[in-house]
Amino acid sequence: MSKLVNEDEVEKIVQSGKILAEVIREIKKLIIPGVKTSFLDEVATNLIRSHKARPAFLDYKGYPASICVSINEQVVHGIPGERIIKRGDLVSVDIGVEFQGFYTDAAFSVVAGDNNPVAQRLIEVTEKSLYEGIKRALPGNRIGDISHAVQETIESAGFSVVRDFVGHGVGRALHEAPQIPNFGKKGRGEIIEEGVVLAIEPMANEKGYQVEILDDDWTVITKDGGLSAHFEHTVWVTKEGPVILTRGEDEE
Ligand code: MF3
Ligand code: CO
Repeated sequence: MSKLVNEDEVEKIVQSGKILAEVIREIKKLIIPGVKTSFLDEVATNLIRSHKARPAFLDYKGYPASICVSINEQVVHGIPGERIIKRGDLVSVDIGVEFQGFYTDAAFSVVAGDNNPVAQRLIEVTEKSLYEGIKRALPGNRIGDISHAVQETIESAGFSVVRDFVGHGVGRALHEAPQIPNFGKKGRGEIIEEGVVLAIEPMANEKGYQVEILDDDWTVITKDGGLSAHFEHTVWVTKEGPVILTRGEDEE
């Protein structure tokens, strides 16, 4: 778990998060019917590089793109390609940035062109669960406090929590200890220390929580074909509270 120890490190990871927030803002505008998913990848790659940063997912364990685009029953790790976004598609985009050795990771889901009330509701609840989790990212709390808040929010809305993929420490590498499950009990797990950086990333399914992996060895889908949504922020834990490093300046 990366702990930020001086101003220089804070500055670098803050910059990494700002770059990522800007990329997300631009990509969000392009989630419209008719757009090819590989185009989103191209735009994100160019934008990240224009900031002298690096797309952190590209070549990570052999991953072939800069971003993940997961549509409808795809949960996470969808590979951008020839697929064209349609009206009503639930589109989840996950992006990682490395800037001067500091990593940030964030994801969002939206419905393309609206017209999908169930997807809309799933998205709302998943995003809310992320913010409920973030609220518990405080020095002295435990990882289980985050997990429990996320799970409670998703399940009380009648949706299910993906168990096979989890949030994680982040900062000097894309994935660091500890794992941050999206289900669990209050007061359990590691103590969260001041200064650490966490990637909190709930994945919620419309129906059952079970998932499987497609033959491309990356794309995770729901087993029952139900919809899935994903939100993620990189959060710096401080005495004054959680600082969301990947939040855009115009977001609340
Ligand atoms: N945010 C995703 C995660 O933490 C990153 C996937 S990286 C990939 O699992 F390269 F494997 F896509
Ligand atoms: Co992540």
